[in-house]
Amino acid sequence: MSSQIDHLLNEDRRFAPPADFAANAVGTADLYSRASEDRDAFWAEQARQLHWHRPFTEVLDWTNPPFAQWFADGALNVAYNCLDRHVEAGYGDRVALLWEGEPGDQRQVTYAELTAEVKRVANVMEGLGIGQGDRVAIYLPMIPEAIAAMLAVARIGAVHSVVFGGFSADSLRSRIDDAGARLVITADGGYRKGKVSPLKPAVDQALAAASNRSEQETVEHVLVVKRGGNRVKWVEDRDIWWHDVVPQASPEHEAQAFPAENPLFILYTSGTTGKPKGILHTSGGYLTQAAFTNRVVHDIRPESDVFWCTADIGWITGHSYVAYGPLANGATQVLYEGTPDSPHPARWWELVEKYGVTILYTAPTAIRSFMKTGRSALENYDLSSIRLLGSVGEPINPEAWMWYHDVIGGHVAPIVDTWWQTETGAIMISALPGVTALKPGSAQVPIPGIGVDVVDESGEHVGNGNGGLLVLTEPWPSMLRGIWGDPERFVETYWEKFRDRGYYFAGDGARLDDDGDVWLLGRVDDVMNVSGHRLSTTEIESALVAHEATAEAAVVGAADETTGQAVVAFVILKESFLRAHSPEGLAQQLRLWVGEQIGPIARPRDIYIVSELPKTRSGKIMRRLLRDVAEGRDVGDTTTLADTAVMSVISAQVR
Ligand code: PRX
Repeated sequence: MSSQIDHLLNEDRRFAPPADFAANAVGTADLYSRASEDRDAFWAEQARQLHWHRPFTEVLDWTNPPFAQWFADGALNVAYNCLDRHVEAGYGDRVALLWEGEPGDQRQVTYAELTAEVKRVANVMEGLGIGQGDRVAIYLPMIPEAIAAMLAVARIGAVHSVVFGGFSADSLRSRIDDAGARLVITADGGYRKGKVSPLKPAVDQALAAASNRSEQETVEHVLVVKRGGNRVKWVEDRDIWWHDVVPQASPEHEAQAFPAENPLFILYTSGTTGKPKGILHTSGGYLTQAAFTNRVVHDIRPESDVFWCTADIGWITGHSYVAYGPLANGATQVLYEGTPDSPHPARWWELVEKYGVTILYTAPTAIRSFMKTGRSALENYDLSSIRLLGSVGEPINPEAWMWYHDVIGGHVAPIVDTWWQTETGAIMISALPGVTALKPGSAQVPIPGIGVDVVDESGEHVGNGNGGLLVLTEPWPSMLRGIWGDPERFVETYWEKFRDRGYYFAGDGARLDDDGDVWLLGRVDDVMNVSGHRLSTTEIESALVAHEATAEAAVVGAADETTGQAVVAFVILKESFLRAHSPEGLAQQLRLWVGEQIGPIARPRDIYIVSELPKTRSGKIMRRLLRDVAEGRDVGDTTTLADTAVMSVISAQVR
């Protein structure tokens, strides 16, 4: 790790913004000075780019930290801001979504069409008794209906909880329960890797599990989009086909104003414990920062750009830069249902050429896997429409940065490496592409209006050239407002560590270089980052020990060339099972089991069956040593182990 960091910090290539880009950039250098002169006035100015049914007079209320309120006496409608106002301004014919399904079917949805669809869905939901504050779970593939569903929920002041379609029935169940969802919106299935991947059966399974639960079922209805054409079971009175009710519903629906702090969505993400946290975001501040960053970081020009953020709506990136940011700005964007390499390895590049994508925003893991496939796969495609590239989700190593810049960006397109989190709601650290000279591998500087620092354990600024913990020093408009149903965990997880200073603790290690630019060094807690997705070691350990064959398990995130980190598990099996089965067979069973329990993304890359785990005298598992084994290094200092011989036993078993 340290040699890797030295290598990173010796990275001295610099890329100044191309002159024509800088001359026309949306985000300009004066934003920094304006924001530092008066932060509140700066954010108020950004918020006023939205339509407020009732203008706000207060900007930030931070009298009860860490519970912030932004623009609290203002009222707006999030969906109106993303839809109606563009239609009313005369842009109804502009394409909002250039959608393509994995099999190649296409739909183009204009702002006028999307507005009408969202109004219909809003009417349907109100007809089902859903209103302000009710929670709606969304479990859909990347189809236009997914965007319509999110916006319709927002339109009626309800709260969505989008659950990534790759999550299992169990994960869906626990998210439905935690949020107390009344409605689930799903599809029969969606296309993934050339076949239909069913969704409705997982919903059925999740809801069937209700019969042996102590809690009462909260879900009253399941609204089902027909997409995969796969056969589905039907529960009369509960299940409703989208096509039976939405097209018939009225396309008239007046957007009501809701307070700026009305909850907009809950999005579950992994923390250091086994239980995912429901991150809560509200309306006015969230939309302000999502739209602002999309304008100045992605340099969006709605009249001419074709934006493509490749994230699934099941993640925060899909919320802020597929659903809300680009639509609030009235932009045209590509929405693609499938996987990057289906039906052929250059599927994305085919789409870039076909739709003339000008701005591409994706994750380093995707870039690295395209690097592996090689340039020949994309030689036949014209990528010259691209003028800006973005990276998100994990550190981008300089090699991947250069490949992205040269091969995809034609040696000219700037790359914005954007650091942020589910909790921050929108981009926090990033270059402004028309202003900042870029450094491959560094996320660089806080965006205007955001306070960032790197500090030591006591909260003291570390100074340039040093490493420490990343903190956010000032409240920001799109900050999480809490963890759903658990205010104590909210305070404890993010605010307790630097309580005296009022800093938000991000959970990331970082380093400041000699210019004061930020280099992200990965998580400092038990959270892994696999292909840009957050997974908790504890959650996977809990899934493993829930299997009858497992006695004990420890999980680590090991460095992986393509996925950034990979899940590696060390498992002690019960004697009785070892006698009756082969270790390989059991390891395979456990991999599948984790996939069923959490979702395929959580499946361990490697499972090592071992007879012991390294523990301190107080019984704490030393994951650091297991990571050494998983990454093929010499095992580090073992002196604090209760039994120092354990690591040689484990190393021998792993080999
Ligand atoms: O460790 C950081 C990493 O992803 C974490 C947040 O994950 P999630 O909430 O799933 O949101 C991902 C998409 C915004 C962070 O704590 N991370 C995100 N972006 C970067 C990053 N690490 C380095 N560089 C980035 N640009």
